[in-house]
Amino acid sequence: MTSRFYITTPIYYVNARPHIGHAYTTIACDTIARRQRMLGADTYFLTGTDEHGVHVERAALSAGQAPQQWVDEVSSAFRALWERMHLTYDDFIRTTSERHKRGVQQLWRRIRDNGYIYKGSYSGQYCVFDELYVDAVGAGAPCPECGRPTETVHEENYFFKLSEFSGKLLKLYTEQPDFIRPETRRNEVLSFVRSGLRDLSISRSTFTWGVPVPDDAGHVIYVWLDALSNYITALGYGSDDDGKFQKYWPADLHMIGKEIVRFHCVYWPAFLMAANLPLPKAIVAHGWLLFEENKMSKSRGNIVRAESILDVLGSDALRYFLLREVVFGQDGSFSFDALVQRYNADLANGLGNLASRTLTMIQRYFHGEIPYPSHAAARKPADDEIVAIAEKTIADYSTLVDQYHFSRALECAWSLVAAVNKYIVETEPWTLGEQQDEMSRSRLATILYTSAEALRIVTAMVHAVIPDATARIWAQLGLGDIKKLALRELKWGQLRLGTKLGSIEPVFPRADKMTIERMQKMEDQQRPTLATAEKSEPATQAQPAAAQRPTATPLPPPASASPDGQISIDDFAKVELRVAQVKLAEKVKGADKLLRLEVDLGTEVRQIVAGIAEAYLPETLIGRKVVVVANLAPRKLRGLESNGMIVAASPEGGKAVLCGFLEDVPLGSRLK
Ligand code: ME8
Ligand code: MG
Repeated sequence: MTSRFYITTPIYYVNARPHIGHAYTTIACDTIARRQRMLGADTYFLTGTDEHGVHVERAALSAGQAPQQWVDEVSSAFRALWERMHLTYDDFIRTTSERHKRGVQQLWRRIRDNGYIYKGSYSGQYCVFDELYVDAVGAGAPCPECGRPTETVHEENYFFKLSEFSGKLLKLYTEQPDFIRPETRRNEVLSFVRSGLRDLSISRSTFTWGVPVPDDAGHVIYVWLDALSNYITALGYGSDDDGKFQKYWPADLHMIGKEIVRFHCVYWPAFLMAANLPLPKAIVAHGWLLFEENKMSKSRGNIVRAESILDVLGSDALRYFLLREVVFGQDGSFSFDALVQRYNADLANGLGNLASRTLTMIQRYFHGEIPYPSHAAARKPADDEIVAIAEKTIADYSTLVDQYHFSRALECAWSLVAAVNKYIVETEPWTLGEQQDEMSRSRLATILYTSAEALRIVTAMVHAVIPDATARIWAQLGLGDIKKLALRELKWGQLRLGTKLGSIEPVFPRADKMTIERMQKMEDQQRPTLATAEKSEPATQAQPAAAQRPTATPLPPPASASPDGQISIDDFAKVELRVAQVKLAEKVKGADKLLRLEVDLGTEVRQIVAGIAEAYLPETLIGRKVVVVANLAPRKLRGLESNGMIVAASPEGGKAVLCGFLEDVPLGSRLK
C-alpha cells in the first residue's frame, strides 16, 4: 500500500501582499511535498488564504474597497506568486469560498450537537492584529503576544468549552511527544495548558465579515475557528464529496510560524476532539525571518518581496538560501548580501562549478558519453573515498531532512560537493586529458565517472530543494526527466556507461555586487505601493515597543583625511570604481583634448566626456574595457554632460594611459 502524506501551510491573511516570510513556509512545505512524492507517497499539499476577520475587513475598508473585491485581489496575488515560483500545491483554499463556509458550519454543528457550545457574554480585551481574546484588564491594555493595544469587547457570544479539554490535551502532548516540534514550542504549550484553560468565545456579533453561525445569523464564527477548519474543508469535509477527507485526513504535518502555535496546538486539537474527529499527527513551528533585526512583517514595513529575488537570481536561489541559511525552528536574518554570498559560494562555485567542469570534460575527452573505469589498476584510494562519502551522505541527508533539519541536511549534501570539487583539483583530470596511453585514459575515465556519479547523487538528493537547476543538471547528465527518479533506490553506481550527455549550459551564473543593487533597487521601487497597503493595517498606528526601536544603523561620522594624508578604508569605499566597456567614442567638436564616450556598465550606458583625445584615436577605444568612477557627480564639459570619469595613469609630461585588465572581467564589476 502506498503511504499517504498530507501537508499544509497556514492560510495567509489577505491584509497585505505576500512577502518572503510567507514564501519561507510555503517553500519548506513544497520541499517536503516534493520529497514525499519522490519517495513514492501519495502526497497532498494544501495552501490558501484566510480572508475573514476584523483586520482583513479594516484593511479593505481603508484601501477604499469592498471586502470581497479586496480579498479577491490579494488572494490572487498570493496565488500568482506561488504559481510563478512553481510551488507544487495540490489545492488552494479560500475561506470565502462556498465549499469552505459549508464545511465550517458543519464543524460548528457537530461541536454544538456534542454539547460543547453555549451562549454567554464576553466582556474583555481583544487583539485585532492577532484576532486573539486576551486576558488583560483595561481599555488599551497591550496584547501579550504582539504588544499592540487591545480593544474592549462587550458582546453576547457563543462559547466553546475549552476548559473541559485541559486533561485530554495534556495527555495528547505526553503520549505523542512529537505532536509539537520543536521542543521549545512544546514546552510553551505545556505550560500554557497547565496554567488552566478558560472557555473560548467563538463568535462575534458586532461585525459581519465572516461565516454566519448556523441557525443564528446575528453572529459570525470566530475567525480562528473559521481559519483552522480549512485543513479539513479543503478535503471536502462537510460536503457530499468527501472522498479526499476520508483518504487524507488526519494531516501528517501542519507547518506554521511560531507565533500561531497556540491556535494550532491547543484550540485546533480541542475543536477536533469536540467534534470526534481524528487529530493531525504533527505540528511543526519554524522561527521568524528577520530583516534589519525585526520580524519581517506587513505592519513594520520591513518587508522583502520574493519577486525581486526571483527576477534577478531565480527561485532556486531563494529556496536554497532560506533552507540553508536559517536553522529551521530558529529565527534567521535575511539580507541581500548574505543571499548573494551563499548563492556564489554554494550554488555558482559549488554545485554549478562541479556540474560544468565534470560535464565539459566528459564532453571534451569522451565525446559526451559517460566513461567507465576499465582497469582495476587505475583505481586509487581517492576514488573509493568519494564513493564512501557519497554513500554516507545519502543516508545522513535523508535522516536530517526527514527531521526537517534542512540547514544541516544541505550542509551535509554540500560536503559531498566540496569533496568532489577537491578531488577534481587534486587528481587534475585535465592533465591526463592530454595523454593518449591506455593507463592515462583509464585513470581519466575513473575520475570523470566518479565525479559524474557523485554529481548525479547530489542532484537527485537536493532536487526537492532546488527543483529547477537540478532538473537541468539531470537533463545535461543525459538522464531525462528527473521526476521519474525513484529516490528511495538512490545508490552509488547507477550511472550507466555510455549515457549520452544532453547539451551543456551553465546553471548558476556568478552574481556580483550589481546583482544586489538590482534587487535592492527593485525593492525600493516597490516601497511606495507597499506603504499604501500598509496604511490599511491597524497595527501601523500602534506598533509594539520592539518595533519602535530605530533599525537603521547610524551613519558613520563624515570622513575627512587625517593630518598625515591617510584616508580610511571607508573613505576609499566611497569611490565607486567599476568596469565598463566603451561602446562609442568620438571627438568633441572644437575641443582638441576631449572625447565623447558612451560606456556600458552592465546595467546602464552612460555618456562620459574624457580628456584623452591626445592619447587615443576614438576608433581604437571601441570595445575596450575601462575603469570608471561611477558615482562622480555629473558635470558639463563643452555643453555635454559627463556622468563619471575614466581612470587613466597620467605620467609626468606624457600621454594618458587607460587603466585596463589582463584577464576578462564582467561589466559592472566593482574595484575595491
Ligand atoms: O497568522 N518569518 O496569517 P499570516 C517567517 N491567517 N514566517 C513568516 C513571517 C516571517 N517574518 N511572516 C509570515 C495568519 N510568516 C493566519 C493563519 S492558519 C489556520 C491561519 C508565515 O498572514 C508563517 O508561516 O499572519 C506564519 O505563521 C504565517 O506566515 C502567518 O501568516
Ligand atoms: Mg501574522
